[in-house]
Amino acid sequence: MLPTAGKDTRFRLSEARALELAAAFGTPLYVVDEAHFRERIRRFKRAFAAASPDHEISYASKANSALAVLAIAHRMGLAIDVASEGEFRAALAARVPAAHCHFHGSNKTCEELGFALSQGIGQIIIDNFHEIDLIASLTNEESQFLLRLAPGVDPKTHVKIATGRVDTKFGFSIADGSAEGALQKCLALGLPVIGFHFHVGSQLTDATAQSEAARMLGTFAREVDARHNFRAQLINFGGGLGAAYQTVDDIQPVEEYCYAVVKAFREGYGDGPPVRLAQEPGRWLIAESGVTLYEVGALKTLKLSGGEKIYVSVDGGLSDNPRPLLYGSHYEVECLRNSSVPNVRMTVAGRHCETDTLFEDVRLPRDLASGDLLQVLATGAYNASMASNYNRFVRPAMVLLRESGTADVIQTRETWRQLLEREVLPDDLIGSSQ
Ligand code: LLP
Repeated sequence: MLPTAGKDTRFRLSEARALELAAAFGTPLYVVDEAHFRERIRRFKRAFAAASPDHEISYASKANSALAVLAIAHRMGLAIDVASEGEFRAALAARVPAAHCHFHGSNKTCEELGFALSQGIGQIIIDNFHEIDLIASLTNEESQFLLRLAPGVDPKTHVKIATGRVDTKFGFSIADGSAEGALQKCLALGLPVIGFHFHVGSQLTDATAQSEAARMLGTFAREVDARHNFRAQLINFGGGLGAAYQTVDDIQPVEEYCYAVVKAFREGYGDGPPVRLAQEPGRWLIAESGVTLYEVGALKTLKLSGGEKIYVSVDGGLSDNPRPLLYGSHYEVECLRNSSVPNVRMTVAGRHCETDTLFEDVRLPRDLASGDLLQVLATGAYNASMASNYNRFVRPAMVLLRESGTADVIQTRETWRQLLEREVLPDDLIGSSQ
């Protein structure tokens, strides 16, 4: 039984466990629950298998690339999607064979491509004509290629995470003929292209945009088969299904989502030859499996014209979770102390030297005090992987709650030494000023 409440699918810590973890590992602390993550993977697999028996799933490692997380995804049969040489090296370090990695990116360098090919990467998702030229100059017998297509659909999500629109830097446009041109170019060069890929955006609440794109891709695959005798073996629908950050978030169940996207693809593809379908979710698999623990520091009550406003400062902020500031993302915050005092509205702020409001208008007990612990739900994705050292804060540790019951540190808290190890102070700047 997972520690979730009712229909709420988010992992959360009990008060006792949270206190124990904070005492052992300090705060801020990222906590990921292994059983929850594995169950999300199993549920996604079942949902996709029901919609399309011939399928494959990769885990989009940008969501959380802790090696232990990558290793779990790999051991559960998922390929690993990497978007840089760094993510690829992380997958290799997690003992994922290169052949099980898929390489993305809108501006892969010649060095990155050379490294990926030399390691025998499984798939490269080609984004642009420049990349076709680069790949043609490198050789490799093992890797396969997909073309990333821009279907020109506008998903209902934050503009900064919408990637499949007409106005996008990603992929070859279907509408202006670039997609077909890219395919012809690859065929002429003899590159082993096996199919097509798209990713329309992230934190999608339902399958509407994905279905529209899948239908277009189905049609495109059917047409290029007729015109160029090209038989796609694999069509990848990218990632994108959202996580429930808040109780009010209404995310379509993954079973319905997979069914709708596959159905739309089939409508476009008609009765073309069999083709394997793929998806590469990140957030849906890991976001809800993680929480962040913070300790409350300063509390401040302001008397504003509209009434009282309570600021709660925690010992982290935009350096461990930049999403509220970047995308206006909302999270739910819980106090880890049983209080009979009624909840009131508070604003949780980080401790950076700017207005790093983390969570506006959250409900917390009136008697919240310095030293209390807060848990922020659904921080498993795009938190640790987007963390920075702004204001020279050290990045938090990450703990994995194992199915066996133990808590394993899977990323250590950065040390002061690590914080400064890239610095080089020129000799003439050492010592007293002249
Ligand atoms: N495949 C490709 C090619 C992608 O670009 C992405 C995400 C995914 C798969 C996984 O998407 P997901 O299933 O996680 O939605 N930093 C932003 C999210 C950026 C996502 C970029 N691409 C955030 O914090 O919301």
